[in-house]
Amino acid sequence: MKIWTPEMIKASKRRHFLSALTVYDYPMTRMLDELGIPMLLVGDSLGMVVLGYPDTTHVTMDDMLHHVKAAARANPKSCLVGDMPYQSYQSSEQAVRNASRLFDAGAHAVKLEGGQEIGAQIKAICSAGIPCVGHLGMLPQHILEEGTYRIKGRSGEEQQKLMDDAAFLDSVGIFAVVLELVEHSLAEEISHSVSYPTIGIGSGNGCDGQILVTHDLVGTFPWFRPKFVQARLDAATLMKAAVKDWQNDWELLYAKRQTPSLD
Ligand code: KIV
Repeated sequence: MKIWTPEMIKASKRRHFLSALTVYDYPMTRMLDELGIPMLLVGDSLGMVVLGYPDTTHVTMDDMLHHVKAAARANPKSCLVGDMPYQSYQSSEQAVRNASRLFDAGAHAVKLEGGQEIGAQIKAICSAGIPCVGHLGMLPQHILEEGTYRIKGRSGEEQQKLMDDAAFLDSVGIFAVVLELVEHSLAEEISHSVSYPTIGIGSGNGCDGQILVTHDLVGTFPWFRPKFVQARLDAATLMKAAVKDWQNDWELLYAKRQTPSLD
């Protein structure tokens, strides 16, 4: 099976569909790698679907390092991308230091949320030789200011900013960009205008690839699933049924063994 380097991910643009999924641990990374998924993201969605936080702003560098190390132990041929968590890239120095820690933990690349406003940090990480994935559109790490998750790029002002940010990320050598909840026709326009592959989530089918939170796809986080995700499996129901079966079998066996009461 081929090894997916950042260069190969970039070169896939206009050649084939790019699939990407999130992973947070060894078994899921190993399974998805065995399927040949080109990009696996240790996303800070970890905060919600694994750690039980209400949003991604609670995820720390230590959390990310712990889970990147677990995923990296699967030695994936997929490109393993580590998310830079909330407030871990406030200055260029801090960004390079923390990107290096994720890289040393086994990530092949890092992902940061934002465009020109974090331009210095992105340039510093790229100059340090660490490949970077961008993230534009709805930025979950901004949920406290934004208050809600909503489609981006409906107003002219937002459209212009997204186009400018997308071009900026191209100019600094980012090798792929996640477009989250971007108005569909704008996501398509951006995808036509940049040299890197765009990876959409809730941004329609005009992107070069698609990414999902794996738990949403296979139904292991049944309490919330974004509207745009069509789950392919209801793993939570299957797991609960298996556990219930096991419990029932043993309860029955133990009930049969009970000495009948004398009264
Ligand atoms: O953290 C994450 O899982 C992500 C995806 C939603 C792209 O950033």
